[in-house]
Amino acid sequence: MIELDVRDVYKSFGGIQALNGVSFSIRGNELIGLIGPNGAGKTTLTNVLDGVYKPTSGEVWLNGERVDGLPPYQIARRGIGRTFQVTRAFRRMTVLENLLVPAMALHPTARKRDFHERAMEVLEFLTIEHLANEYARSLSGGQQKLLELGRLLMLDPDIIILDEPFAGVHPKLMETIYEYIIEVNKQGKAFIIISHDMDSIFTLSKRLLVLNYGEIIADGEPAKVKEDPAVIEAYLGEEEEEGPVVIPAGRLAEGMEEATNG
Ligand SMILES: Nc1ncnc2c1ncn2[C@@H]1O[C@H](COP(=O)(O)OP(=O)(O)O)[C@@H](O)[C@H]1O
Ligand SMILES: [Mg+2]
Repeated sequence: MIELDVRDVYKSFGGIQALNGVSFSIRGNELIGLIGPNGAGKTTLTNVLDGVYKPTSGEVWLNGERVDGLPPYQIARRGIGRTFQVTRAFRRMTVLENLLVPAMALHPTARKRDFHERAMEVLEFLTIEHLANEYARSLSGGQQKLLELGRLLMLDPDIIILDEPFAGVHPKLMETIYEYIIEVNKQGKAFIIISHDMDSIFTLSKRLLVLNYGEIIADGEPAKVKEDPAVIEAYLGEEEEEGPVVIPAGRLAEGMEEATNG
């Protein structure tokens, strides 16, 4: 069974305390929504979990092994995978090549032919096998999200962290992505889904984590968390700023910055 334990994690940037003693655990194939106002620390937590940042203090344990401070590729090998708010696909490579590259980088001694078969399976699962030989740059926004998910599935992670998987995705394709998430979750993978789209979060998650000022202020059943006074308080005044589905260009720019800086 998948076991993740985050123990009292702090992360500061100069004077900014981005994570302020975060603790939670995952047991098995949980489907968790991670929400919180802008600046709450969601991206920082993701970056700590996948090894981009070393926490200032605290520990992360994955399947009985301490992993905080390990480089990202080592953590990926041990089973944590994440997507980025803004796709990191290689635009001048084909869809198929985009799937092969991360898998081969992570397992340099494995046979290319095995990856090829696996890649075609993944593309079929995501019903984009007809795009295998298209350049990534020619895909629509929604197809790029599927490609990102496909690249992740190639690495067969135990815990999948999705950062804004629905941003800029057509509502119809959103439903399709829901189905893939639910299916992969049934196959035994745990998910942490970060989204500003509350409909998606409440449709998908069986457990909600709420971050505010670097602290987890609620952790539990979505229906209960929604009624929690501390959560309502944290979100007061947020509603007007946050469009529920469409991500404004400003936020995309912020995501780009994140993608290039982080
Ligand atoms: N690389 C960084 N350098 C300095 N401050 C950062 C950095 N990354 C995040 N922060 C700060 O940490 C806090 C949490 O940010 P972040 O994790 O991006 O929040 P969220 O993803 O929930 O919007 C914010 O105050 C943000 O400005
Ligand atoms: Mg963020």
